Amino acid sequence: MKIFVDTADLNEISELSESGLIDGVTTNPSLASKSEKSFIELIKEISSLIKGPVSAEVTAENLSEMIKEADKLRQISDNIAIKVPLTVDGLKCCKKLSDEGTMVNVTLCFSANQALLAAKCGATFISPFIGRLDDIGINGIDLISDILDIYDNYGYETQVLAASIRHPLHVLQVAKVGSDVATLPPKIIRQLYNHPLTDKGLASFLSDWKKSGKKIT
Ligand code: E4P
Repeated sequence: MKIFVDTADLNEISELSESGLIDGVTTNPSLASKSEKSFIELIKEISSLIKGPVSAEVTAENLSEMIKEADKLRQISDNIAIKVPLTVDGLKCCKKLSDEGTMVNVTLCFSANQALLAAKCGATFISPFIGRLDDIGINGIDLISDILDIYDNYGYETQVLAASIRHPLHVLQVAKVGSDVATLPPKIIRQLYNHPLTDKGLASFLSDWKKSGKKIT
């Protein structure tokens, strides 16, 4: 499963990218609003830090304005994926951009039927928001499974990008059902590799080693 980081924080992206674990970045208008930089500058810097897809979201709501914004954003770098909301205009925009060879991430997906439409419009990624579904008592993991089944039935190449992930259990669950990608806040990426028994075990190995006086080199 590919791991994207869900943040617009340049320091976090830079630090996490050094681990070699990060395959891409997703941003959204709320995350980008926290940055002091202009949106164009921010996306430019992010796309220079990461080789994989960097999702940059349009904020216009009608097709012609969405296209204008997308044109500006896709000129920044070849690894930009234009993020569009799952609305009629967003889907039209997705179709046009994907026909032109631009990567598109269709966001704010809350149903399998919405995901079917995004795939028909050539989306590169579909972003089902599992945490926000869980918040209202609907099982977000079932949505990921349903979309994967539907895409498999028809051979759609759209990648399922599990979004709105709130804790490591979500990561395990989406990986078990076969999500192509999961986008995680930096904190959750760190929670994946930290374990108290790893820390405890390492401390005891190193203490025994030190006492023995042995050396490797
Ligand atoms: C995905 O692209 C979104 O930016 C993100 O995962 C939303 O997560 P939230 O529901 O925690 O805001």
